[in-house]
Amino acid sequence: MNAFSPKTPVVFEPDTANPRQLRDAFAKFATGVTVVTCAGENGPLCITANSFSSISMDPPLVMWAPSKGSRRFPLFRVAERFAIHVLSADQSDLCWACSQDAHALREFDHLVDEAGVPLIPGCLARFVCRHVACHEAGDHVIIVGEVDKVEMSEGDALAFYAGKFGQFAQQ
Ligand SMILES: Cc1cc2nc3c(=O)[nH]c(=O)nc-3n(C[C@H](O)[C@H](O)[C@H](O)COP(=O)(O)O)c2cc1C
Repeated sequence: MNAFSPKTPVVFEPDTANPRQLRDAFAKFATGVTVVTCAGENGPLCITANSFSSISMDPPLVMWAPSKGSRRFPLFRVAERFAIHVLSADQSDLCWACSQDAHALREFDHLVDEAGVPLIPGCLARFVCRHVACHEAGDHVIIVGEVDKVEMSEGDALAFYAGKFGQFAQQ
């Protein structure tokens, strides 16, 4: 098959009893990857998330969506301050570790700001946020943060598409 071959689309109605196809369709949306961090009672907490989106310029607002099914959900749900780190192409180890373990930052370089929020170096961008709203969204919630501080660097992006990691190179 080449780029000009017709492809037969798969057509279906979402079936909550069998979510595979819907999950695959959602995964057709190529994204960057972030790690969200907040302070925890037993040290820095982290979670890998690709549900991040910028929302508003004035005021500066961003969002991400934690799953209610995650064991980390209760902790991130109530965090008054958090940081969203946009990962660079060479941070796939960090990305994988933070998806597996809420305490993965024990093994990775980071600082902690005056509010106890973990700050990871070497990212493409970091948004330090205040929790300003939370919206119910089925089995997830949408957390909206107002951005207080930003750090930004040059580099290639870590990308996620159809369940696999890749890179988006700066031209
Ligand atoms: C690329 C990628 C993106 C993810 N995005 C999200 C997300 O946006 N929201 C979420 O709740 N979990 C997301 N996850 C899953 C979490 O990182 C983590 O694996 C999950 O919360 C594990 O649940 P636990 O806390 O019960 O161990 C993502 C994982 C990967 C690898």
